[in-house]
Parts: sequence; C-alpha cells; structure tokens
Amino acid sequence: MGKSRPKTPPEQPKRTPQAGVVPGIAHPERYSEDEDRDVSLRPQNLTEFLGQASMKENLAVFIAAARKRNESLDHLFLIGPPGLGKTTLAQVVAHELGVEFKVTSAPALDKPKDLAGILTMISEKAVFFIDEIHRLKPAIEEMLYIAMEDYELDWIIGQGPSARTIRLPIPPFTLVGATTKAGNVSSPLISRFGITCRFAFYELTDMEAILRRSSGILRVPLDDAAASLLASSARGTPRVANRLLRRMRDFAQVRGGASITRAVVEEGLARLEIDSLGLERHDREILKIIIERYGGGPVGAETLAISVGEAVDTLEDYYEPYLIQSGLLQRTPRGRMVTPLAYEHLKLPRKDRDENSGFLF
Ligand SMILES: Nc1ncnc2c1ncn2[C@@H]1O[C@H](COP(=O)(O)OP(=O)(O)OP(=O)(O)O)[C@@H](O)[C@H]1O
Ligand SMILES: [Mg+2]
Repeated sequence: MGKSRPKTPPEQPKRTPQAGVVPGIAHPERYSEDEDRDVSLRPQNLTEFLGQASMKENLAVFIAAARKRNESLDHLFLIGPPGLGKTTLAQVVAHELGVEFKVTSAPALDKPKDLAGILTMISEKAVFFIDEIHRLKPAIEEMLYIAMEDYELDWIIGQGPSARTIRLPIPPFTLVGATTKAGNVSSPLISRFGITCRFAFYELTDMEAILRRSSGILRVPLDDAAASLLASSARGTPRVANRLLRRMRDFAQVRGGASITRAVVEEGLARLEIDSLGLERHDREILKIIIERYGGGPVGAETLAISVGEAVDTLEDYYEPYLIQSGLLQRTPRGRMVTPLAYEHLKLPRKDRDENSGFLF
C-alpha cells in the first residue's frame, strides 16, 4: 500500500449482495472486501478522478464558484451503475470544497431522529452524502425537503393534543444523493437537487489510465498490452478494474514475476473464466441457454430465470444490464433475445428456423 495515501477511510455503509446472488469477480456490485482494500486506490481530488471529462469540468466550475462566494455548493444528485465512482466523487467534492464529509445510506436513516441527529451536528457547508437515496422512507424524505430548501428541520415536540411542531435551524450544507436506480427516486426529491451528474461507463482509454494509476499505487508494474487487455475485460467500471488488477498481481507473484504482463493477464483471466468482454461463466451460460434451448429467443424472463436457476429479480438486476449494455442481449415485448454479436462472441453457429429461409437475423 502507498505510504502517503489517505489516512482514515470514511465510514462506508456496507451493502450486502442481494440474497441468493453468488458474487462474481467481474460483477461491479460492492462487497465489503473491496471497500476495505480500495481505500488507497480511491482518488482524493478532481485531478486523480479520471475520466467523465465533461461532468468533471462542470463540477470544477461549480465548486470554484461556491468557494468564491463562500457558500455551500448546490445539492448534487449522482446517478449511475455500481462501481463507477459515485461515492468517490462525493468524497472528492468535499475535499475540493475543503469541508467535512459525512456519509450515510438511506436504509440507515430509519427514524426522523437519525436524520436530525446528523443534520444538527453537521458543520457549516459540509457535504452530507446519502447513498442509495432511492430507498429513503417517506417521513425522512419529507423532512429532507425542508432541510434542503430552507436549512431547517421540522421537529415535533410533545405528544397527543399538546404536540406542536417547531422549526430548528441547521447549518447550510450540500446534500449529495447517489443512486443506481434513478427511476425509483420521487420527482419532488429530484427537483430539489441543483446539479445532476449522470455517470457513463468509462472509455477504454480512461480505464487504462485508471489501471495505470492503481498499479502505481500498488507498486506493481503493468505493461501497456496488459493494461489494454485488462481494460477491455473490466466492464467500463473502475471497481472491476481495480479488483482484476489485484488478482493479476497475485497471479504475477505466484508465477514469480514482478510485473503484470500480457501473458499474466491472459492466463489470469482464463483461470478466472473472464473473457475479452468481461463476461463470466454464468453470464455466458445465460446467453448459451437462450441460444441452445430457445433458438436465440424471444423467451420470457420467468422461463429464462428458471432455466438458468436464478430468481427473476437477480436475472433482471444483476445479470441482464451488462449483457444488454454490451449489445449481446435485447429486452423485447415478447421476451429476451440474443443479438448476432452474442453468436459471434460465443462462437456458436446461428441456426435457421426454417432450413430454406436463411438466417434469423
Ligand atoms: N474516476 C475514477 N478514477 C479512478 N478510480 C476510480 C474512479 N471512480 C471510481 N474509482 C475506483 O473505483 C472504486 C469504486 O468506486 P465507488 O465506490 O465510488 O463506486 P460507486 O459508484 O459509489 O458504487 P456503488 O453504487 O456500488 O456504491 C473506488 O474505490 C475507486 O478506487
Ligand atoms: Mg458508492
């Protein structure tokens, strides 16, 4: 671990994998092991935060302007799939503003007093990060509206007929809300955020840069060919890239080499059964089942879920997004269908439905 890297890890709300999901190494969901180990790799400021260029440029302007006015930054809404850097960016923003960083997640805010406890103690202009903000309880969400707009809390004192509401002032602060499911966030809440950042999957060149930066911190040499192969297998997701890099470092060490070369990566990925698109065995099995048992589809989600031995939710939330995003699978009104790219990638022949009518596609 680098010596001058960050001191205390921020409190990270742990997220457990969905019940019944066997975590795959190339799947971007967060697991506690990563959180503990990623601390040294996590960028601390905007310069270290690689990729997402236009989002970063805008943020730099907003941060500079807020600093100049000596005001808190507008509330910031971060949207994007797991592992793309939402928590990291929230922390970077606090660092760039030079303010306190306070972390929680929506499921941890159970009662109004949980929120009030944080907001009454928070320091002026602090960044208050709420992860998984789509999971806020309605009572907490309403309390947050007033806090975001007026920097006040509605607080009920007393009980029964003598109960009354008082408004408690709180310091101006910046709420940073993050979600992987923007569709589940209510519009009144969304409308209270002044700035929205939508994360895109990282370009290959950005992924390579992230891998190079991480290899420097981990002090393991990574050659260019190895970086480019790892970058293309990491699903455009920095968390996956860092996870794969650590595993490749293990393979390199066991082989007795000091550096990660293309040969190490080729062998390492083969051993982990991760292919050039970042698919794992089970991802490929899902595509294969659609091709071999259902003629390439369409097949209904429920039938498919049973065939692959997963719950429908797991199939939809955990496996399908990346298959769809990488152009291997389509969701159609009649069910799931593989694309020609899936046949090509799996090197499976496309079968004709009708022997004489040519290809299906
Ligand atoms: N832009 C970036 N540049 C370099 N490294 C990054 C970048 N974004 C993320 N990372 C690395 O990826 C890891 C995962 O990022 P992070 O935890 O911020 O993702 P997240 O979007 O909050 O995911 P989740 O939705 O699961 O909470 C970080 O620990 C960091 O090391
Ligand atoms: Mg996060």
